[in-house]
Amino acid sequence: MTRAAEGKEAAMEHYSNPRNQGEIAAPDASASVYNPACGDTMRLMLKVRDGIITDVKWKAQACGASLAAASIASEMVKGKTTAQANGVTREQVAEALGGLLPAKFHSAVLAVDAVKAALQAYTANQR
Ligand code: FES
Repeated sequence: MTRAAEGKEAAMEHYSNPRNQGEIAAPDASASVYNPACGDTMRLMLKVRDGIITDVKWKAQACGASLAAASIASEMVKGKTTAQANGVTREQVAEALGGLLPAKFHSAVLAVDAVKAALQAYTANQR
């Protein structure tokens, strides 16, 4: 199987069985992002201990590609330091999903923006 085909299969699997979907009752930080072009919204919550993301949950009203992107992005940041999580790129999420079609790339953007916004909120909460 080609890498792209494997990624597409992964995308379908994440869409059918999304990881870390839900809510954290008392998150250390949370943020909501919205894409005004398509109307998709995503809220992402974090638990952080000693600089490590110990839990991440998300909720979205969004297309299937965005749900898959949120699922995969949440797996990419869970267990990472906040700095490592901040380094996760839209391209990495899109690639993990098999290389999103250009028209759907913005779903990876939404998921990564949600992670970065929650990390910013976390940093602001620490001050
Ligand atoms: S349709 Fe725009 S992110 Fe899903």
